[in-house]
Amino acid sequence: MSKILVTGGAGFIGSHTVVELQNAGYDVTVVDNLSNSSEKSLERVAAITGKKAPFHKVDICDREGLEAVFAAEHPDAVIHFAGLKAVGESTQKPWEYYENNIAGTLTLVDVMRKNGCKNIIFSSSATVYGNPAEIPITENCPKGQCTNPYGWTKSMLEQILSDIQKADKEWNVILLRYFNPIGAHKSGTIGENPNGIPNNLMPYITQVAVGKLPELGVFGNDYDTHDGTGVRDYIHVVDLAIGHVKALKKIEEKAGLKIYNLGTGQGYSVLDIVKNFEEATGVKIPYTIKPRRPGDIAECYADASLAKAELGWEAQYGIREMCEDSWRWQKNNPNGFED
Ligand code: NAD
Ligand code: UD1
Repeated sequence: MSKILVTGGAGFIGSHTVVELQNAGYDVTVVDNLSNSSEKSLERVAAITGKKAPFHKVDICDREGLEAVFAAEHPDAVIHFAGLKAVGESTQKPWEYYENNIAGTLTLVDVMRKNGCKNIIFSSSATVYGNPAEIPITENCPKGQCTNPYGWTKSMLEQILSDIQKADKEWNVILLRYFNPIGAHKSGTIGENPNGIPNNLMPYITQVAVGKLPELGVFGNDYDTHDGTGVRDYIHVVDLAIGHVKALKKIEEKAGLKIYNLGTGQGYSVLDIVKNFEEATGVKIPYTIKPRRPGDIAECYADASLAKAELGWEAQYGIREMCEDSWRWQKNNPNGFED
């Protein structure tokens, strides 16, 4: 298996994964409609790896466009990142989220099977656990009630891909449940580039640090956690990217259907992150305590031992490097990929 199609490869996690795939010797092709990314990320990837991945500006809902890509590239496997991911927006535009994420994936999978390509790694999320029944969260923890349409698209797509694999054992399907990806490539040339005011914690902090936003709002300090603020499992995006390379090796062994958490197993509160960021960068982050954000849970961190046992994967980077690398990217690129 050498030719890999990466959907959503111009985005945050996708671009980092293209780097690690190319470093591991895979021949990578990218499909992205650039709805939430810039083609410049792929130029920067090429500068890092010395290899330019063929790029097709195609929407995964566009069957003819995808068929042309498969006819030209003949991929052996697909790593499927393409999707809309803004939680708040998904509550305002549920139809757009279900259409893009679910109809898009159904079209992709149909084109794949018609072309004899039945290997897929899918970007899922810890959000499928809802308010988790157990902490740390193992893959056996029951899926829960999602609080927004974005989360439901992940939960439903997990079900759809699992059913397809159960009906046709030629399929190899790996569902990767990401915890909270942050950080950026060490070069500081690729990273997360949210549109408008960030919803997620780390991009908000880096935008405060760079002076684009005045202060951080901490959403609640009355949770049942060590300091009252929400606890999450932050994972360096490069570790996450390497997890995909390991999953691909698993697919090469005929994986069938597999589900893995990708997290560090370590929980940090919002105030822990502020403190670690300040220590790692020397930049002060002013904050005020705000009310809880609707839909948030107190605590969410992984038991990542299955990925270690079966994929030989374990996160290497700690919170300090996550903070340093997020900051290097933001400081060097205050306007993301815009000049
Ligand atoms: P991102 O927005 O940076 O990347 C997604 C990419 O998909 C973008 O480049 C976008 O232009 C592209 N895209 C969207 N819809 C498309 C379509 N219809 N056709 C073609 N391309 C399309 O997001 P990311 O943070 O890199 O996330 C990648 C995947 O991982 C997503 O599926 C996301 O839901 C999932 N995920 C992300 C996180 C996170 O915190 N970042 C957590 C869990 C899961
Ligand atoms: C959120 C999504 C989740 C999605 C993930 C992608 C919700 C409910 N969940 O996860 O579905 O997969 O992003 O990364 O939106 N916080 C602040 N101030 C801020 C921003 C965040 O205090 O300005 C806190 C939050 O309350 C939370 C923690 O920081 O305790 C992490 O928040 P965030 O980065 O948005 O991630 P999640 O909520 O875990």
